[in-house]
Amino acid sequence: MSSQLYTLGIETSCDETSVALLRDSELVAGHTYSQLDHSAYGGVVPELASRAHVGKLDRLCAQVLADSGVRLDQIGLVATTDSPGLAGALLVGVSFACGLSVAHRMPVVGVHHLEGHICAALIEHGPLAQFPLLALVVSGGHTALYLVRDIGTYECIGRTVDDAAGEAFDKVGTLLGFAYPAGRAIDEAARKSGTGHPLSFPVHRSSGDSLDFSFSGLKTAVKYHVGKLSAEQLAHQRPSICAAFQKAVVSSLVSTTLRAADRHGFGSVICSGGVAANGALRAALQESFGKRLLLPSPSLCTDNAAMIARAGYERHVRGLDRVPRMSPSRELSSRMG
Ligand code: KG4
Ligand code: ZN
Repeated sequence: MSSQLYTLGIETSCDETSVALLRDSELVAGHTYSQLDHSAYGGVVPELASRAHVGKLDRLCAQVLADSGVRLDQIGLVATTDSPGLAGALLVGVSFACGLSVAHRMPVVGVHHLEGHICAALIEHGPLAQFPLLALVVSGGHTALYLVRDIGTYECIGRTVDDAAGEAFDKVGTLLGFAYPAGRAIDEAARKSGTGHPLSFPVHRSSGDSLDFSFSGLKTAVKYHVGKLSAEQLAHQRPSICAAFQKAVVSSLVSTTLRAADRHGFGSVICSGGVAANGALRAALQESFGKRLLLPSPSLCTDNAAMIARAGYERHVRGLDRVPRMSPSRELSSRMG
């Protein structure tokens, strides 16, 4: 009899519907549907997100099973994001996972979305990971630094006091006329900017004992700058504004992570979450941390179910399973994951 464990992962906390399958710790198949219906509104509309999850989740699950040739009755564990996120969106994934668990008598484990982002780095680099990990999680909803002594043991050592880094990318994108979410478009525009119109914006640096981040001042600086430009000037300067804004975000993230590394020590450094797909951030972290940096591929940085399956698997093998508990606002903690 095979002793392999198949883990089905489900992610529906925001505007990505995603299902993935692991064989033990190895990723076998995964599909993610990114909802595009929100861009007209400049942000995620919760009810639209929930409805889209309802419409897609079972189909994605069927597709993952078909791709992998695995039957539902072979699955030994289902892992679902239960916090934090949009309440209705989370409810779709949690209900689906609990339904599978009851119908097919498989254990179900609840996963904190940020624990998922941290575990994304293990999918491709698991054997290289040295604890304690220093984990920079940079997404649309969160920007925080964690000291991870083992999976399940998290100490938040710094966080944003206002906007998340991804939120700053998206808000600045709106000012510049990009569709939501704008992180990738700003990244691409910055890459093409050249040295035509040199600009700089203020960089927030944490001081004293603090390892916190702040991006609202930077966003306001971009807003004032854009407000002084004609439509023609804005069109001309857009790539340079993207490059200068991105440089300020990257500089703040990297300098604070370096200070955290000095103060706390670490084995490996992880950066994950949607903003970790950013080319300039990846290059700057690589330069600072070299081989000790474990970066997921861009498609594993943005929301996906492979990271949730991996986090669920890591909890399960450590005996840290916990039943899903709908908690849209819960912080990542060592007690509850
Ligand atoms: O982790 P994620 O998919 O969802 C949340 O948990 O929030 O992150 C989405 C965020 C958005 O704010 C998006 O603009 C940003 O990640 N993002 C990027 C890039 N790709 C996605 N930001 C900067 N550069 C990118 N290449
Ligand atoms: Zn996320």
